[in-house]
Amino acid sequence: MPNWFRLALSLLQFQAPLHLSRVSLTADVPDKRIAIVGGGTAGIVMLKTLVDDLPKDLTQTWEIVLFEQRDDVGGIWYPDPHTPHPPDLPESPLYPRLRTNTPHPSMTIPQFQFPPGTALFPNHAFVHQYHKSMISRWNLSSYIHLRHEVLAADWHGDNVSGHWQLTALDRTHNRTVHAGFDHLVVASGHNQYPYEPKFQGQQVWEASAPGRKVLHSIFYREPEVYRGRNVLVVGGGASGRDISQQVVRFANSTYVSLRSDSMRLLPLPFPHIPGVERVGAISHFTPHAPVFEDGTSLPQIDTVLLATGYELRVPFLSFIRNTSLSTPLPDPHDCDALTNNGRYLRPLFRHVLSLAPTHAPLALAFIGLPIFVSNGISDFAQALLVAHALADPALLPPASALLADLRAQEAALDNPARIGHRIVQPGGGTAYQDELVAILQDSGREGGGIPSRGTRFTEPWREFATRESGRLRLAWLKIEALGKDEVRKWLGSVKRGDEAEWVDLMERLAEWFKEQMWSSGTRRLIGAPT
Ligand SMILES: Cc1cc2nc3c(=O)[nH]c(=O)nc-3n(C[C@H](O)[C@H](O)[C@H](O)COP(=O)(O)OP(=O)(O)OC[C@H]3O[C@@H](n4cnc5c(N)ncnc54)[C@H](O)[C@@H]3O)c2cc1C
Ligand SMILES: *[C@@H]1O[C@H](CO)[C@@H](O)[C@H](O)[C@H]1NC(C)=O
Ligand SMILES: *[C@@H]1O[C@H](CO)[C@@H](O)[C@H](O)[C@H]1NC(C)=O
Ligand SMILES: *[C@@H]1O[C@H](CO)[C@@H](O)[C@H](O)[C@H]1NC(C)=O
Ligand SMILES: *[C@@H]1O[C@H](CO)[C@@H](O)[C@H](O)[C@H]1NC(C)=O
Ligand SMILES: *[C@@H]1O[C@H](CO)[C@@H](O)[C@H](O)[C@H]1NC(C)=O
Repeated sequence: MPNWFRLALSLLQFQAPLHLSRVSLTADVPDKRIAIVGGGTAGIVMLKTLVDDLPKDLTQTWEIVLFEQRDDVGGIWYPDPHTPHPPDLPESPLYPRLRTNTPHPSMTIPQFQFPPGTALFPNHAFVHQYHKSMISRWNLSSYIHLRHEVLAADWHGDNVSGHWQLTALDRTHNRTVHAGFDHLVVASGHNQYPYEPKFQGQQVWEASAPGRKVLHSIFYREPEVYRGRNVLVVGGGASGRDISQQVVRFANSTYVSLRSDSMRLLPLPFPHIPGVERVGAISHFTPHAPVFEDGTSLPQIDTVLLATGYELRVPFLSFIRNTSLSTPLPDPHDCDALTNNGRYLRPLFRHVLSLAPTHAPLALAFIGLPIFVSNGISDFAQALLVAHALADPALLPPASALLADLRAQEAALDNPARIGHRIVQPGGGTAYQDELVAILQDSGREGGGIPSRGTRFTEPWREFATRESGRLRLAWLKIEALGKDEVRKWLGSVKRGDEAEWVDLMERLAEWFKEQMWSSGTRRLIGAPT
């Protein structure tokens, strides 16, 4: 940032317009003003794509700003130093023992891997560091305004032209700042607002004996505090699995409540965890116990941990209309506003571009909404679509065609309102990403992350890493159990830290695991000691 700019910043008055870095040096008025909200994976990948993957001669007259409310980037991977107490929500659901549940290469963007020596399923701190490395690798920090919370973004204009009036709280100086933008890219995440089912009788149960507690997993931190307690974990997703696995080592008893349809709804079946007993869905609470749908109850339970996921909210877009999960979805062509049922923002083209008729085309985009995808690569595919559409709005067909596409996408789903942004199409996230980038390939775009036409965007190894994620994790934990030398031996094969080396490691590990399973199976068959 040049010194004259720092000087200008220091002269800013309360409620002064926000002065922006990276204002073009060649033009007084930037061609396009783009605001990104959120400095997690999604926001950083969007920023990197605009700055690094579009032709520089094009973007040098653009003004690009990223707002992040916290004092560092990384999103959920940047821990909240405070111990959260309800009802105040923590800044991140991260807990000290959180390790990734996916192999780290699957969390990356192309050609930028975790450094050599990183455990295949690392502790959260390594993922935070990966985000910081993206910032320095592409020199992005001058675009990023930390400690700036976007409070409101309002569209001034109609469905042809206009601009966003953005209001942010500068937390360093405790003052509000205002700025105008042509395009708003929302990357504010969807793990901030807990989804908490309210069971009948729950409050009376909680108040009927000392020490009883119902807590959402966003507040979960250390398993030791559950020593001697009788814990019921509700939900079998990634959080429910991980928390059950940790709590069972300290609790007197641990149960997990799974809905009967959970086999269908979970991306992975709930594993067998020694000591964790499965029960059905909760029906209600009596003053003495939670009661399950099969009529059984568990009177010894004193702690209920709700690993029931999150609700999607974008509080700074006050024009969004709230609906409920059971509100029928009108035909996309009949939508007169952006709506949110807590799980699904609509109408969006491929979960990215807002098609609401209340603002100009391409004025509003979302990065990072999809669930059941590998975030980094999905964010990158979305960001490429947004960046190229901003560079050349003629790239996309007219709104009516995009709405027709949404209609066709939804028609392929059982219940689009409930499925929301879960990517359940054949081929999953890989197919989703490839289709987004194929739009760019079909219109002749190539380079800057877009492979030539006919070549799939998602490298084939990512499909393998996603499919084998569960097995690779068991294999990796087994390697770790064998000791430091074994870990060193496996990681030693990764010297430069490029994709080929990490892929080779994962492939060998999957092979090794198969052999282990096979030989332990045979030993069991022939009765040999294991
Ligand atoms: C406990 C947990 C474990 C997970 N483990 C894995 C895993 O192992 N592997 C995997 O692939 N995925 C995992 N995920 C999924 C994870 O959500 C993604 O990996 C990814 O971090 C999401 O990034 P994001 O940028 O979309 O959102 P976030 O990380 O939530 O980032 C959003 C950012 O926006 C900022 N923000 C929000 N509102 C505003 C505002 N008004 N003004 C300014 N800034 C704002 C927030 O402060 C935050 O920094 C996990 C998720 C959770 C909750
Ligand atoms: C990084 O950005 C700073 C400030 O914008 C600039 O002075 C510097 O030359 C850049 N470095 C590289 C390697 O591009
Ligand atoms: C920030 O400013 C508001 C009013 O502008 C004031 O009410 C509040 O106390 C201030 N907070 C801090 C931490 O200074
Ligand atoms: C410990 O758990 C068992 C069930 O496994 C239960 O019967 C017993 O009451 C619990 N004891 C205490 C002290 O909570
Ligand atoms: C929509 O719901 C959110 C919380 O989920 C709330 O903050 C917001 O005010 C609601 N909007 C309207 C228009 O009621
Ligand atoms: C834009 O708004 C006008 C007037 O409100 C309306 O007639 C027209 O159909 C809108 N166009 C689109 C593409 O939404």
